[in-house]
Amino acid sequence: QLFAHENSETVMSEPIVLIVNGQKRTIATDVKRSLLHVLREDLGMTGTKYACGEGQCGACTVLVDDLPVRSCVTEVGEVADKEILTIEGLSENGELHPIQQAFLDEGGMQCGYCTSGMILNAVALLEHNAQPTDDEIVEWMNSHICRCNGYPKIVNSIRKAAQQPS
Ligand code: FES
Repeated sequence: QLFAHENSETVMSEPIVLIVNGQKRTIATDVKRSLLHVLREDLGMTGTKYACGEGQCGACTVLVDDLPVRSCVTEVGEVADKEILTIEGLSENGELHPIQQAFLDEGGMQCGYCTSGMILNAVALLEHNAQPTDDEIVEWMNSHICRCNGYPKIVNSIRKAAQQPS
């Protein structure tokens, strides 16, 4: 398959395997496209958001092999055969993930645009440090921007999730 790249070069697509939310997905694409665009446009997973497009704001964060990654600046070829977790993969058997539930309970979202990235970064935090202090939460989340300025409720949400019995 041939298609026009952003800079008008014609690029040959290559088949690659992505493991998204536990499922193997084989797609044919230019390996230099962003992971974000492949998730949204090829796989229909629009829960991951496009915001600054420069890896600065955190809205597009997903986990790759359990680590937070800015998907707008990650080439899809870099994550071939790795485990990718998006917001669509967090709930289990119809039950929200405890961090999703805590964001709902504590009003940790307003417009919601930053929320997927915030929640996935918080998942990585609690996997790394199950009982963070408020200072540790702020430090870990610091590079994520909330345009609605909902920071106190975001910290409350993550603190509440950390207090849930695992
Ligand atoms: Fe609107 Fe954070 S809830 S950007």
